[in-house]
Amino acid sequence: MTRVVPDLGAVRRRFSSLQGEFTFLDAPGGSQVPDEVGDAMARCLREASANIGAPYETSRRVGAILDGAEQRSARFLGCEPHEIVFGTNMTSLNFALSRTAGRGFQAGDEILVSSLDHDGGVAPWLELAHDRDLVVRHVELNDDTTLDFDDLRAKLSDRTRVVAFAWASNAIGTITDARRVCALAHSVGALAWIDAVHYAAHEPIDVRAVDADVLLCSPYKFCGPHLGLAYGKAEVIERWRPYKARPAATTPLGRRFETGTMPYELLAGLNTTFDYLDDIGGFEVIVPHERALGERFLAALPDAARVYGLQTMEGRVPTFLVNLDGVPAPQVAGRLADRGMGVWAHDSWYSLNLYERFGYGSDGSVRIGFIHYNTADEVDRLAGELTQIAASA
Ligand SMILES: Cc1ncc(COP(=O)(O)O)c(C=O)c1O
Repeated sequence: MTRVVPDLGAVRRRFSSLQGEFTFLDAPGGSQVPDEVGDAMARCLREASANIGAPYETSRRVGAILDGAEQRSARFLGCEPHEIVFGTNMTSLNFALSRTAGRGFQAGDEILVSSLDHDGGVAPWLELAHDRDLVVRHVELNDDTTLDFDDLRAKLSDRTRVVAFAWASNAIGTITDARRVCALAHSVGALAWIDAVHYAAHEPIDVRAVDADVLLCSPYKFCGPHLGLAYGKAEVIERWRPYKARPAATTPLGRRFETGTMPYELLAGLNTTFDYLDDIGGFEVIVPHERALGERFLAALPDAARVYGLQTMEGRVPTFLVNLDGVPAPQVAGRLADRGMGVWAHDSWYSLNLYERFGYGSDGSVRIGFIHYNTADEVDRLAGELTQIAASA
């Protein structure tokens, strides 16, 4: 089969931010955004500044933006438009939806979360547990940072109400077998609740294929505006009692879980983000390109570099936590920034259990995250700089 190669020159020309000298290797913290997305947002504010439901043109335009955002999001996630819920960001939406789901839970009910998770996927359950006397348990990891399915099976019980997990780790890039977790959750009647914030930038999603009940992501990780986007399986969420203002519409289904007026200009940008991703060839092009970048990076790293987690591209996305022997992570990030390369140093990367289990050095670690607009040349230059920094230690 011929490999589909992106025309990176053409892709990158769509981003003003990629025309300068600076190299962005920090996509996990938020990707760059093509100009057309910003243009769509500005156009919405100029030409469709209204609310839905009024009998004139600007209102009809806003309605079309909202309908379009639900339709495109549904296509992106593999569901129906009425199963889409928008919010401020993943964390806020997760607090809201977990609260809503939890209205029917009883004291002593259990929530399982994974030890790979970002705290945006954990804290909402901890707070709910605090208020409602629930129990939150962490599913452990194997030494290679993959999910320990024996531990998951052992922790499932007839008290388990939710199994929540990150499809891919925002810190070390490890992917979890989502279909397998969902099947295990359903075997005890629990909801399968997926944090796909990190995964969504790198791999295609089909919520039906994995049989998720709820899935959340954040478009600012895949070249879109700052928003939260969720899928809720219709037969699950139609049973939930929504937190909503009473006159607000109850149909389409997903909208009953959205509070207040939607940020239509951001949704206009989101529509253009999906169009952009389709236009560059979608995940058929993105996945092999990003995988090649990751392989190139791993092969070029100096011996002094330690990569945490999986050591090949098998079972991971191209997000790497790295330390260089003898050079504190903040210094590595600072020196790369001086050389025009954007990465950060941090301790836990909001993945608290993962950090507790594996530690990443007292000064934290450097996260390097490639995304489809990165080039082989950028990877080579990064590896070269890391080699020089390590040699000067
Ligand atoms: C895996 C993962 N989950 C959740 C979040 C929180 O997302 P948001 O910033 O949209 O609340 C992040 C953010 O980095 C993330 O990487």
